[in-house]
Amino acid sequence: MQWWRPLALGLAAVALSAGCGLAQTMTFAERVTMCSACHGEDGNSKLENIPSLAGQPAFFVLNQLFLMREGVRKVETMAPIVKDLKDGDLDALSKHFAGLAPKRSDEKIDPVLAKRGEEIATARRCVSCHAPNLVGADQIPRIAKQRIDFMIKSMKAYRDNPPPGADTAMSANVIGASDADLVALAHYAASK
Ligand code: HEC
Ligand code: HEC
Repeated sequence: MQWWRPLALGLAAVALSAGCGLAQTMTFAERVTMCSACHGEDGNSKLENIPSLAGQPAFFVLNQLFLMREGVRKVETMAPIVKDLKDGDLDALSKHFAGLAPKRSDEKIDPVLAKRGEEIATARRCVSCHAPNLVGADQIPRIAKQRIDFMIKSMKAYRDNPPPGADTAMSANVIGASDADLVALAHYAASK
């Protein structure tokens, strides 16, 4: 799918809701459709650098949405969407995405890189926080089956320039990792 199509859809939805004051009156299903324009119809993203949400721990999603609504984690394209959501909306959206089944992305997973990534992940004890099989828990995200491009981008950010609101526990874990190590780790997590 071309990247601009869902983006345009998402932005159109935002413009519509902002223009007509619909944000308050949107139904839950309409909200989910808006999120899905970017994050994938079944919560599994098909778009570059946009994370999948399917199967994320509900508390992780809730926490991130809260940080975005309060302007701590800055995601430009999402800011207008989350700004008027009530706590109950955040909660319902989190539970919805947590309940969807995660699927591998259609990016090409290199088995050699994945194998190398597994060794690095073992040495760096990623499972000590991301849980066995990397499925996440509480405020810690699932990285199993996450998109490769998004994981590389976010790990580089944790390593080089942790964004506001980012958990420092994560940054400490990628210090000293080379770009090649991060690529291998992403292929491994995506393959799970
Ligand atoms: C216009 C596209 C777009 C729309 C619409 C959108 N998002 Fe996002 N979302 C993004 C992008 C891009 C990121 C990743 C930002 C980054 O690189 O940190 C993101 C990140 C997230 C994250 C953090 C996930 C993680 O693994 O770090 C959550 C949770 C999230 N979005 C939930 C939602 C929900 C719920 C909705 C609907 C209310 C929604 N998004 C609508 C583009 C969008
Ligand atoms: C000490 C606990 C801890 C360890 C160990 C850890 N992480 Fe994390 N990781 C986190 C937390 C917490 C977050 C969420 C960060 C936030 O809220 O800003 C995270 C976020 C991530 C993300 C972004 C996912 C998303 O959806 O936004 C990736 C990718 C990631 N970790 C990969 C790894 C890899 C690979 C390893 C092993 C090299 C690792 N982590 C080790 C705690 C940890």
